[in-house]
Amino acid sequence: MLGRGKFRWRSVVAESRRRHRQMSTMPAAAKVFEEIVGARRAAPSFDSSRPVPDTALASILQSTLKAPSSFNVQPFKCVLVKDKKVRKDLAYCFSGYNIAKVLQAPVTAVFLADARPSRSIGALLDREKERGMKDEDLSKLFFDASFLAGSTEALGRAASSSLSRITQMPSVTSAEAWGSKNTMPAAMMYMLAAASHGLDTCPMEGLDGRRVCDVVGAPDGYCVPVAIATGYARASSPPKEQWRYDESEMFFVDRFDDS
Ligand SMILES: Cc1cc2nc3c(=O)[nH]c(=O)nc-3n(C[C@H](O)[C@H](O)[C@H](O)COP(=O)(O)O)c2cc1C
Repeated sequence: MLGRGKFRWRSVVAESRRRHRQMSTMPAAAKVFEEIVGARRAAPSFDSSRPVPDTALASILQSTLKAPSSFNVQPFKCVLVKDKKVRKDLAYCFSGYNIAKVLQAPVTAVFLADARPSRSIGALLDREKERGMKDEDLSKLFFDASFLAGSTEALGRAASSSLSRITQMPSVTSAEAWGSKNTMPAAMMYMLAAASHGLDTCPMEGLDGRRVCDVVGAPDGYCVPVAIATGYARASSPPKEQWRYDESEMFFVDRFDDS
């Protein structure tokens, strides 16, 4: 339930009744989705003796492709590291406990975000031209996407902040932030799809992006917002208890309210 800001304790009984009512009116697909979301946890370790079935991986990648992105630019790539030797090289690009996860997991998906958006936007324009987009629409797409993607970051920021006093202007971020922002929906899609196949994952940002790019042979200008160890969790080390802030602290209606 959405709170109007103020933190409120609800009794456990009232909460479970509300939840029961909510569940009984939910479409079947929504229940399945909640189940998948509930099954996803950040796995603390992986069973290295259980491979990931190729059929599951193919289906996960199909879902990953369906992730939305700004102007449909799709400015990311994903390298699935499966080979034992490459996994070992990759593992030592990570920090702390992540090293063991990459060594154990049969697959680690390295998500690469394009921090040179002109490359991804160029590819999109070629594809849209082939699909019959008119020249004037192509130029508008080029201008709008390049502006938002931070291709002209300093200029874009200056234009955006001064013009926004006069008219609404989209906020401009750095090219790296834009690439990462457009990569994370795909990464999330990957994790949920993996959970739907009964697989476990652990997203990891504790890594040396430059070294990871070297190991997977990424072209210049890519960064690594996240890599996802994938496999079956070891039953002997379950994830820590999951907790989240109360909904009333996180969700508001119409206006942020932290009173
Ligand atoms: C962007 C991002 C980076 C993360 N980086 C790491 C990491 O480097 N190592 C790790 O063990 N877990 C990492 N996690 C997992 C979080 O610690 C985990 O999702 C969080 O504690 C909540 O637990 P849950 O996913 O099981 O609900 C990361 C999660 C996200 C979304």
